[in-house]
Amino acid sequence: MTVAPSRASRSEGLDAASALAGPAYDRADWSSAFRNVGVELSAVPLVATRGTIPSELAGTLYRNGPGRLERGGHWVHHPFDGDGMITALRFDAGTLQLSNRFVRTQGWLAEEEADKVLYRGVFGTQKPGGPIANAFDLRLKNIANTQVVRLGDQLLALWEASSPHALDPETLETKGITLLDGVLKPDEAFSAHPRLDPGHHGEPRLVTFGVKAGPTSTVRLMEFATTGEQAGQLIADDSYSFKGFAFLHDFAITPNWAVFLQNAVAFNPLGFVLGQKGAAQCLSSKPGQQGQFWLVPRASGAFAGQKPRLIKAPEGFVFHHLNAFEDASGEVVVDSIFYADFPSIGPDVDFRTIDFDSLPEGQLKRCRIDLKTAGVSLELLEPRCCEFAMVNPAHQGLAARYGWMAVAEREHGNDPLQAIEKFDLLSGERRVWSASPRGFVNEPVMVPSPQASGAAGQPEDRGWVLVLVWNGARCASDLVILDAATMAEQAVVELPLALPYGLHGSWSPA
Ligand SMILES: [Fe+2]
Repeated sequence: MTVAPSRASRSEGLDAASALAGPAYDRADWSSAFRNVGVELSAVPLVATRGTIPSELAGTLYRNGPGRLERGGHWVHHPFDGDGMITALRFDAGTLQLSNRFVRTQGWLAEEEADKVLYRGVFGTQKPGGPIANAFDLRLKNIANTQVVRLGDQLLALWEASSPHALDPETLETKGITLLDGVLKPDEAFSAHPRLDPGHHGEPRLVTFGVKAGPTSTVRLMEFATTGEQAGQLIADDSYSFKGFAFLHDFAITPNWAVFLQNAVAFNPLGFVLGQKGAAQCLSSKPGQQGQFWLVPRASGAFAGQKPRLIKAPEGFVFHHLNAFEDASGEVVVDSIFYADFPSIGPDVDFRTIDFDSLPEGQLKRCRIDLKTAGVSLELLEPRCCEFAMVNPAHQGLAARYGWMAVAEREHGNDPLQAIEKFDLLSGERRVWSASPRGFVNEPVMVPSPQASGAAGQPEDRGWVLVLVWNGARCASDLVILDAATMAEQAVVELPLALPYGLHGSWSPA
């Protein structure tokens, strides 16, 4: 891994050079991350290979992602179909301990015992035996692989189409599926994208949702207490129905609104039923059609009790939002990563050989929603290919100044994510730390300094960015700790683990 420019307010000349240059990575390095996690570790002490682990970092970085991609020579069709594996990196006074465990889902246990693939996957993984073996098998395997968060005394492994799995926060031992003390019905959908409200209405809350999709779709918006004796308890719960098939992976919050972007997609389940496609491969975009913002009033907000506002959205497809906020004029501002189209891997394509140029790149765009006129303006904030963006969590739902996100090394085009960018939403200034040419980054997690979080007048960018990097040179994973303000490398820890590209993670302060 090399450290590329730590500051990249790049000149126009560099821009042009970067646009003309071909990709600087080796595909074999990129694809070498696709493998099974072969070991489970318990509280293994680690030391920094370079630099120093900041002594003020106190808490646990939890990460979730697919840890099993192949069984008996039969590969998943898409890595998102891999079984959930949790990594925990526990920081205390400059020391670090690593643990990792597969989530013992019912499907994982059954396949371990049988030592073969028994389930289809949502993103196109088929059981061996072709369409005949897969047709009419409409079971969902809850793979618990998308996000991992603390809620009260529970650690939850999340997968949006079904219920969470509860884990022991220390040992990562799977306790089993949880219905959150009766909040959820069996198999009820529970999003993998909860948002932490830092205290818009007093105490912090975890705000999340579940979607029941169909010709009419129902969104259930839930808010949970996260502190004090009530921690983990449901404190607000409302359901809303909308016309059309809802594909909602993420949402954003402001003090008054939960903001959903309903992409313009159609769902034709025939290929899934007949055993030819995964359920997600039956989604297709409706070219030329616009999606819709659904602004759902939050229970403690100024519009509580009112109907949701439905507002036409710009063209494009969105998985993830960076943040949303309400500005002084009352406009709702939503920053999201837009794709020109729904990026999907067709049934006959091997994901390890995908042509990046054939897929649209994600770009950070800002929508300003005028509630009075229902007008929406769109602004491109960052043309560079990006994903997995976050603000300082103390500024979630508010007018944050900075975002941190994973970006491609090149300034234009679609490439693997190899760098972490700090983006100044006010000035447009960028600072980039790069793992190129042999490193490939996961989602960055911004951890505010304990002195800075929530304290008025403290710099928003005081803290660290924690990121797992696939190191193609040693075919293993590194933890990289960056200074969130300068993006300078603070420490690199070579992990005794080889982790495939993961999905989401969260920071749990000590
Ligand atoms: Fe996501």
